[in-house]
Amino acid sequence: MKNLKRQWVFINIPGINFGRSSYGQNVTLVDVSSDVLKKSESNIQNSLGRVAKKLHKDDPAAGKKLVDDVLSRIQYTTEPQKGVQNADLVVEAIIENIDIKHKLFKSLDEAAPEKTLFASNTSSLSIAEIASVTKRLDKFGGLHFFNPVPMMKLLEVIRIPETSDETYNSMMAWGKSIGKVCITCKDTPGFVVNRLLVPYIAEAVRMLERGDASAQDIDTAMKLGAGYPMGPLELADYTGLDTGVFILEGWHKKFPDNALFNPVELQNKLVKEGKLEERVGEGFYKYTK
Ligand SMILES: NC(=O)c1ccc[n+]([C@@H]2O[C@H](COP(=O)([O-])OP(=O)(O)OC[C@H]3O[C@@H](n4cnc5c(N)ncnc54)[C@H](O)[C@@H]3O)[C@@H](O)[C@H]2O)c1
Repeated sequence: MKNLKRQWVFINIPGINFGRSSYGQNVTLVDVSSDVLKKSESNIQNSLGRVAKKLHKDDPAAGKKLVDDVLSRIQYTTEPQKGVQNADLVVEAIIENIDIKHKLFKSLDEAAPEKTLFASNTSSLSIAEIASVTKRLDKFGGLHFFNPVPMMKLLEVIRIPETSDETYNSMMAWGKSIGKVCITCKDTPGFVVNRLLVPYIAEAVRMLERGDASAQDIDTAMKLGAGYPMGPLELADYTGLDTGVFILEGWHKKFPDNALFNPVELQNKLVKEGKLEERVGEGFYKYTK
């Protein structure tokens, strides 16, 4: 089994990377935008400062050492090909667009050493389809994290038929080494969590659309009746209505006979009106900033 502890590259998802480097791993964060990288660096420094203060309240020198150690293991670059030159593992988390992911993986496949494992953090695309442009299908898998990554313990590890046992075992071991609980799923739409959540949220919106119950009552019902920490409409506001619409649209196009993936008019209407989520002040609910 490969030891992935030495060097790995995280292509995007700003702000969460110190998590890995705080497990003693070298991380290179890549984004095409230097502004995104600057913002990520500052987010990482701030979060790390808070963690160090909490862990070493009475020993500022130990806190400073923790921060310095972790920061020394993180590098930043806007050049993906440069970033992967010594990588054991690449985790891609760029924009959810198959053509852009293909372009990136094609160039990474040429630039990365033969040993490098590739993974995508896609939430809704097919891992096999993403991997198809590379010549390393045996070294390709899915590593699907959940937001907010430092808090959410789950990591979905996805195998395509060509993923070798060695690659799969290395990815599972790596996930555990960074403190995640790993589950395995085949390369199916949405894997486990989103395959259940996206149709569930869509059904809650259909219920609201029909006037069966109010948004508040639907959410209260699922929190108090099913023990969920958030109701489906609160969750939709948290994750972004546009994300849900985008995923449903993609699946509906690919699997038109599956009624669970049918678009939902009310969800589409709110997105068109810019009522996207909690952070913009309105989704299914109104929020004061
Ligand atoms: N947002 C979430 O909660 C979440 C959770 C799990 C998985 N994901 C998955 O992670 C991926 C990213 O999601 P997001 O919401 O952060 O997307 P986003 O569109 O907000 O961010 C994409 C980032 O990728 C960068 N980028 C675009 N093209 C690039 C390239 N060629 N090379 C390097 N960087 C590039 C952009 O500059 C931007 O910073 C998607 O595949 C998504 O499905 C997202």
